[in-house]
Amino acid sequence: MPSKSKTRRPRLAHTLPALHRAIAELRRRNASLALVPTMGALHDGHLSLVRLAKRRANKVVVSIFVNPAQFAAHEDLSSYPRTWKEDVAKLTAEGVDLIWNPAAGIMYPDGFATRLAPEGPASAGLEDRIRPHFFGGVATVVCKLFTQTRPDFAIFGEKDYQQLKVVTQMSRDLDLRVKVVGAPVKRERDGLAMSSRNVYLSAEHRAAAPVLFRTLKECATRLRAGDAVADVMRDGGQEVTNAGFALDYLDARHAETLAPVTSPKDGPLRLLIAAKIGSTRLIDNIKV
Ligand code: PAJ
Repeated sequence: MPSKSKTRRPRLAHTLPALHRAIAELRRRNASLALVPTMGALHDGHLSLVRLAKRRANKVVVSIFVNPAQFAAHEDLSSYPRTWKEDVAKLTAEGVDLIWNPAAGIMYPDGFATRLAPEGPASAGLEDRIRPHFFGGVATVVCKLFTQTRPDFAIFGEKDYQQLKVVTQMSRDLDLRVKVVGAPVKRERDGLAMSSRNVYLSAEHRAAAPVLFRTLKECATRLRAGDAVADVMRDGGQEVTNAGFALDYLDARHAETLAPVTSPKDGPLRLLIAAKIGSTRLIDNIKV
């Protein structure tokens, strides 16, 4: 039987004054606070972040905000899956304390004119090369979420590995005093990394999708055995292309700086992949 506190509905805040009131109440008796930023359409990957947040802090806030600033005009902002009722039910079952769900006009009121320009891991030549607008939009909204909620911890998934490095750097550079914590990638049984965008996949494309993780694992094994990075990346790229994907990148990078590497000795390494099947773009990554 779930305990009573587990089934209590989280408080909902849709405006800044309501958010600040709710945070002040959560902070009574010096409770520590963890934030889990999301765009909703919650799946078990998101919920694994919530569980980690609960282990780190006394109180947990989840933000649900589909952030227009990180979508380019040709991307899927208007069709991005929105499942508010299901999201609230899932967060209720997890015992979340507060859901922060601002409208776009509250996050970006008329006249809003500031945008962060992250560098370092944000200009590594991975996601930023394909989505040049993306990390500026992410850094801007995450900085706002941090200053709005003032958490001690913020939990981000390794699923979006470059994003995790960008927000870690931003929090440090801007003295935001939020400890950014990474959580492991949560996968389906066949290895496909969970993603809100997996619902876009046709049955045929869904069946092909586990090739990404399989290829990452094969490449990591070969790199550990001492094969040359260039050879391993070429063969891995071929495998993914043969399965029907259009490859954006498959690359071995330094796990902390995301700088290019030529040998596993330049490590610790992280292998990162992004590829498109039909109109769905998937990303994944693995430790070497
Ligand atoms: P969203 O794609 O909703 O993801 C929210 C968080 O869940 C991110 O930290 C992401 O890395 C994590 N996540 C997603 N799938 C995961 C999986 N399979 N395993 C582990 N963690 C997973 O990422 C964003 O939203 C936005 O860019 C955001 C940070 C909220 C800023 O708008």
